[in-house]
Order: sequence, then structure tokens, then C-alpha cells
Amino acid sequence: MLHDFKHNTNFVADNQPVLIEPPLMDGSELPLIATGEGIPMEQNCFNCHPGKITQCFRGAMYTAGQKCDDCHGGMLATGGEFVLDTGLVREPWVDEPKCSSCHSGHGNDPVGMLAYDPDDPAATPIEMADSRFAENPGTLYRNSLDNHAGIACEACHGSPHAIWPNRDLNANDNVTAIQLQGHAGTISECRVCHEANSFPNGTLNGPHGMHPVNDPNWIKSKGDFYHEDFVWLNGEDQCAACHGADHRGTRLSRVPVDRVLKDADGVVRATLAAGEIVSCGLCHSIDKSFEG
Ligand code: HEC
Ligand code: HEC
Ligand code: HEC
Ligand code: HEC
Ligand code: HEC
Ligand code: HEC
Ligand code: HEC
Repeated sequence: MLHDFKHNTNFVADNQPVLIEPPLMDGSELPLIATGEGIPMEQNCFNCHPGKITQCFRGAMYTAGQKCDDCHGGMLATGGEFVLDTGLVREPWVDEPKCSSCHSGHGNDPVGMLAYDPDDPAATPIEMADSRFAENPGTLYRNSLDNHAGIACEACHGSPHAIWPNRDLNANDNVTAIQLQGHAGTISECRVCHEANSFPNGTLNGPHGMHPVNDPNWIKSKGDFYHEDFVWLNGEDQCAACHGADHRGTRLSRVPVDRVLKDADGVVRATLAAGEIVSCGLCHSIDKSFEG
């Protein structure tokens, strides 16, 4: 079952797997604790890591059906048996999976289901450092800070294995977000930290390049500047990453909660239910949204 890949020779002298399925230790065949598609975590990582009852892994990626090995690789990969694509040997506690391996930063891309190349037995994390959603270079998620204000990623998303929201609305993991912004999930309401009307002229300098949300001045201010002035900033479509190249909306332009969107004159421009996607054709034609 071992492929012809480069082994980490200074790790195990005889290249023999050290973790054996206990009942099969009869000396003849020594299979590893198996991982992969269709093999539940209870049969591998949960033998030792607190999961079956403690549920250390329980956040958004659990809800999405992911398993330990989809991010970390199997036993040999985590055990550092193979040389990484980088030519280095995996360093425990340091070389861990990355959010950006699966979250490319473009709402039209499907979200990845595997954080490494399936043909790489070392499970080297896919590098996508230019992703809008990348950790700081060479830094673990839990030590990374966002680009807008130096706020810890964890402050808006929770801890790595319990990324908000938890699928159980009443779970403790959801309490922080519900208390701060009235709904579970990523902290996305600017008013959690900024006063109302903090951005009278609009901005794209929120977390991950976000604009103000549920903010009348962004929809149509009384002054000169509102969202239309940001579409072609720097000559490139600034809205495409989250609203799609066709401006019809993607999973990155969903409202997390029911919204009644008013402009600065108090005129209701649109009403949306939680989970609906904001298309640029919601309040005016799609064609118009490419002007400006
Ligand atoms: C036989 C028991 C056992 C199994 C099975 C097991 N682990 Fe571990 N794991 C440990 C122990 C013990 C440590 C702590 C090692 C230390 O303190 O350095 C650990 C540490 C880790 C670490 C942190 C250190 C590092 O290498 O970065 C990760 C990540 C990890 N395990 C992932 C996994 C994954 C993924 C699986 C399933 C594919 C798994 N483990 C299966 C016992 C196990
Ligand atoms: C969606 C991807 C993902 C899945 C699935 C996942 N992990 Fe992790 N894991 C990570 C990331 C990211 C880190 C690095 C944490 C950090 O940056 O602070 C990590 C770190 C760890 C560590 C090191 C200790 C720590 O908290 O840093 C252990 C141990 C670990 N994971 C075990 C597991 C086990 C066991 C499972 C399955 C029950 C699992 N992981 C499932 C992404 C994942
Ligand atoms: C192995 C791939 C993978 C990795 C690594 C990964 N994710 Fe995800 N993530 C997913 C998938 C798949 C979904 C579900 C997408 C969907 O709903 O269409 C998801 C969903 C999410 C959501 C949306 C939750 C919601 O319901 O609104 C957030 C937030 C998120 N991930 C943050 C993170 C963070 C932070 C990290 C790093 C700690 C991370 N992800 C690492 C695959 C991954
Ligand atoms: C101030 C709050 C805040 C901080 C801090 C923050 N984020 Fe986010 N994050 C958001 C918001 C809001 C979104 C949703 C963007 C969207 O849906 O278009 C998001 C989306 C994401 C997603 C994509 C989720 C999905 O559904 O595809 C990932 C991955 C992510 N962030 C990772 C990170 C990482 C890594 C850091 C730290 C470097 C970080 N975030 C810091 C607010 C924050
Ligand atoms: C978790 C708290 C938090 C959230 C949520 C948050 N911010 Fe911030 N933001 C800060 C902090 C702290 C600063 C730094 C203030 C300073 O340096 O004086 C900042 C600074 C800024 C700045 C630069 C300074 C300024 O006031 O012009 C902009 C622009 C900004 N945030 C936009 C946003 C937008 C848009 C959102 C919502 C999508 C948002 N922020 C959500 C905490 C937050
Ligand atoms: C980082 C992702 C992201 C980018 C980039 C982005 N949007 Fe959005 N947009 C969203 C999300 C998420 C929502 C839903 C916000 C909400 O109401 O919760 C949204 C909603 C809106 C709304 C409706 C108001 C609202 O608060 O819901 C308008 C108008 C809008 N976007 C315009 C733009 C324009 C114009 C651009 C480009 C200049 C742009 N967006 C770029 C993520 C993004
Ligand atoms: C919540 C309602 C709403 C949404 C969603 C919305 N807009 Fe607008 N937009 C307006 C309003 C109001 C105006 C002012 C002109 C009008 O009344 O049509 C406007 C005007 C514009 C203009 C100026 C058009 C002109 O004739 O000069 C552009 C460009 C534009 N929007 C781009 C976008 C883009 C790009 C998106 C999506 C990313 C978007 N809009 C989403 C409400 C919205």
C-alpha cells in the first residue's frame, strides 16, 4: 500500500509504520489504521483524539461533512512519514492545514473538499496565500490577524475545529455571535465594533475587503459617494469575487439574517430572507451594475 514516494529517512529507521490496528497485530500482516473516503473518524483519529463524546471537531466544516483526514491527511501523513512537497519534513504542531487551501476567495469557485492534493501522500497543504481568506504567512490560524484591523481570525470565526456557526442553534459555540450581533455565524455586522454611520462615504476596507453591511449610506448616501463609486476602483471589478463575475451573486454574498434594506432617505430598496443571495440585479438592472 506504500507508494514509491520519498520517505522521511531520519524519522523511522526502517520505514515501518508504527501505528497498527490493534486486533490485527498477529505478526503476519500489519495494516495501518485506515483513513479515506467512507471510513468514519470513529475508526481512526477518534481512537485517540477526543471526538466521539467530547466532539472537539464540531463547527462549520463538520456540518459540511468533512473528516479529520480531509484536512490533515492519514496516519502516515500526520506521522511525518513522507517528505512534503516543499522538500521539508512535516513539523508537528507547526505544519497544519490552512483555511485558504479550500476557500479560494472567489464565490464562483466551489469550496474545496480536500486541503491537499489527493496524489500527495504527505498531504502538503495547498498554498493559496493570495486568497482573500488566507492566514498570515507562515502562521497558524489561531495566531493569525486580519488585514483590516489586526483582529484575531478567531474573534470573528471561533476556534479552528469549532468554526461558527455550530449546526445546533442552542450550542454554546453560538452564544458569542448571537449576543454580539443577534444571529449565529461569522461576525459580519460592522456595528458590533463600529458606531452606526461610521462609513458615510462607503469603504471596501472591512475584514477581507468587505463593505459596510446593512448600511443605508452604502446603498445610497445623501452625499456623493456610495457603492457605485467602488465598482471599478483600480480599474478592476471589485465586486466580482463575492457577487460573481456576472454580478448575479454567489455564496459569498448571502445575507445571514432577514434584511429590510433602506437607503439614506429611508426608502426601502429590497427585502431579503436569511440565506438569500444578493444579486446586483436586486434593486436595479444587472446592466446598470456594470456602469459607474
Ligand atoms: C494511536 C493514537 C492516535 C491516533 C489514532 C491519532 N493520533 Fe493524533 N496524536 C496522538 C498523540 C498522542 C498526539 C500528541 C503528540 C505530541 O504530544 O507530540 C497527537 C497529536 C496530533 C496532532 C498535533 C501534532 C502534530 O502532528 O501536528 C495532530 C495534528 C494529529 N494528532 C492529528 C491526527 C489525525 C488527523 C489522526 C487521524 C488520521 C490522528 N491524529 C490519529 C495520538 C493519535
Ligand atoms: C476543516 C479542516 C480540519 C479538519 C476537518 C480537522 N482539522 Fe485539525 N486542524 C485544522 C487546522 C486549520 C489546524 C491548525 C490550528 C491552528 O492554526 O491553530 C488544526 C490543528 C489540529 C491539531 C493540533 C492542535 C491544535 O489545535 O492546533 C490537532 C491535534 C488536530 N487538528 C486534530 C484533528 C482531528 C483529530 C480531527 C478530526 C476529529 C481534525 N483535526 C479535523 C483543520 C482541521
Ligand atoms: C478541507 C476544506 C476546508 C478547509 C481546510 C476549511 N474549510 Fe471552511 N468550509 C469548507 C466547506 C466544504 C464549507 C461548506 C461550503 C458550503 O456551504 O457550500 C465550508 C464552510 C465554511 C464557512 C461558512 C459557514 C456558514 O455556514 O456560513 C466558514 C465561515 C468557514 N468554512 C471558515 C473556515 C475557516 C476559518 C477555516 C480554517 C480554520 C476553514 N473554513 C477551513 C471547507 C473547508
Ligand atoms: C472582523 C471580523 C473578521 C475577522 C477578524 C476575520 N474574518 Fe474571515 N470572514 C469575515 C466575514 C464577514 C466573512 C464573510 C465574507 C462573505 O461572506 O463574503 C468572512 C469569511 C471568511 C472565510 C470564507 C468563509 C466562506 O463561507 O467561504 C474564511 C475561510 C475566513 N473568513 C477566514 C479568515 C481568516 C483566516 C482570518 C484571519 C486572517 C479571518 N477570516 C478574520 C469576518 C472576519
Ligand atoms: C470585531 C470588531 C470589528 C468588526 C466586526 C469590524 N471592525 Fe472595522 N475595525 C475594527 C478595529 C478595532 C479597527 C481599528 C480602529 C483603529 O485603528 O483605530 C477597525 C478599523 C476599520 C477601518 C479603518 C478605520 C476607519 O474607521 O475608517 C475600516 C474602514 C473598517 N474597520 C471597516 C469595517 C467594516 C466595513 C466592517 C463590517 C463589514 C468592520 N469594519 C467590522 C474592528 C472591527
Ligand atoms: C468580500 C465579499 C464582498 C465583496 C468584495 C463585495 N460584497 Fe457586496 N455583499 C457581500 C455580502 C456578504 C452581502 C450581504 C451583506 C448583508 O446584508 O449581510 C453583500 C451585500 C451587498 C449589497 C446590499 C446591501 C447589504 O447590506 O446587504 C450591496 C448594495 C452590495 N453588496 C454592493 C457591493 C458592491 C457595489 C461591491 C463592489 C464594489 C461589493 N458589494 C463587493 C459581500 C461582498
Ligand atoms: C439594495 C439595493 C441595491 C443593490 C443590491 C445594488 N444596488 Fe447599485 N444602486 C442602488 C441604488 C439605490 C442606486 C442609485 C441609482 C438608482 O436608484 O438606481 C444604485 C446605483 C448603482 C450604480 C450607478 C448606476 C448609474 O446609473 O450611474 C452602479 C454602477 C451600481 N449601483 C452598481 C451595483 C453593483 C455592482 C451591485 C452589486 C455588487 C449593486 N449595485 C447592487 C441600489 C442597489
